[in-house]
Amino acid sequence: RIRIRLLLRWKSNTRPAPVLTAAPLRSLVDEPVSIRGHLLPPRCPVTLCARMHSDEGDLWESFAHYNANESGVFLTSDPSVGGSYVGCQPMGLFWSMQPAPGGREGLRLRKKNVEAPFTVRISLLEGHVSPSRGQLNELAAVSAERWYVAPEVKRIDIRQNGIVGTLLVPPGPGPFPALLDLWGMGGGLLEYRSSLLASKGYVSLSLAYFGHKDLPGPPDRFTVGDSYFKAAFQLLQDHPQVVSDRVGIIGLSFGSYLALRIATIPGVKVGLKAHAYFKPILSSRILILPPTTICYTYFPAFNSCFLDYQIEERLRSAGKSHLFTRLSYPGAGHLIEPPYSPSVRSSMFGVCCAVITLWGGHPAPHAAAQEDAWNKILDYFEENLRS
Ligand SMILES: *[C@@H]1O[C@H](CO)[C@@H](O)[C@H](O)[C@H]1NC(C)=O
Repeated sequence: RIRIRLLLRWKSNTRPAPVLTAAPLRSLVDEPVSIRGHLLPPRCPVTLCARMHSDEGDLWESFAHYNANESGVFLTSDPSVGGSYVGCQPMGLFWSMQPAPGGREGLRLRKKNVEAPFTVRISLLEGHVSPSRGQLNELAAVSAERWYVAPEVKRIDIRQNGIVGTLLVPPGPGPFPALLDLWGMGGGLLEYRSSLLASKGYVSLSLAYFGHKDLPGPPDRFTVGDSYFKAAFQLLQDHPQVVSDRVGIIGLSFGSYLALRIATIPGVKVGLKAHAYFKPILSSRILILPPTTICYTYFPAFNSCFLDYQIEERLRSAGKSHLFTRLSYPGAGHLIEPPYSPSVRSSMFGVCCAVITLWGGHPAPHAAAQEDAWNKILDYFEENLRS
């Protein structure tokens, strides 16, 4: 009996340690990462947990339950049987990230410093467990870097002719096609989409137009007009590394209204409207949650179909209706970000005051919409600006 027990102990002690790999270890945020666990006991239940800190220092996390197969192997493309997502979602670990329990309220994940990556630590835990509860036994871990910018993309602060922005320039002599990048009424200067577009070979200008200290007037007032946006578009056209008749516009939320406005100025070649208005299903209201109430406001109930119609009409009257494509994503929310970004159902948002705003959407269809829309937007730019 003693001999048998000794033999068993010997066996378990010499079992090779489980291994967790991620490939690639360094990637752009819109590139998939595949994660693989191996050297596990056959059919062993495990939990995969991803954790990272935002630039503000908030912890974001996700987890999923997998079962190793007969050979002691599992992949993130296998079905998850529980946790932050279920079913076959190869990038679920990334898009299902949420602020860790006990963190600040109303967070939205946005990269502030594009010159550093998000470092995602992925750990393999024994059993089907919830990482925020109980005893955890970590079997292996790996870190993956997620970048918004490719190596050698140049980042240039723009403060000229009153224009406030950041220009992202791809490596190489060019000339390149270019994009004017407009975010919504959250204001400020955000570079993470432009830096990703520059990584795909577009000179890209992130333009601040509201809520930035270098713009004229108080930060809570809209002080720029059409001439400001025209000047920004002109800046791109006149840039020595830009093909002057290959400049497009990308916009989200209020930025898509601006994109349309600029695009229908005669002589301006339009890019794609990134579709992202409020979904009628939510009545499009700004919801105020009592503990964080600062002021009370409602947005008018936008109907996205009606807006599509208006956009189409406006493009038609400018003789550009052939450039209109409508993409519809049931189940997606308002904030269509680059692929694999966590979906944010609600977050702190304020034009005049900060309130919790409900953006809508369900995580899996929202993630699918982000991936599909991004690829279609890139295809559209390739077709209309590159050729
Ligand atoms: C286990 O999964 C790996 C990776 O998909 C595969 O190569 C291997 O053949 C599988 N083993 C069995 C017994 O199905």
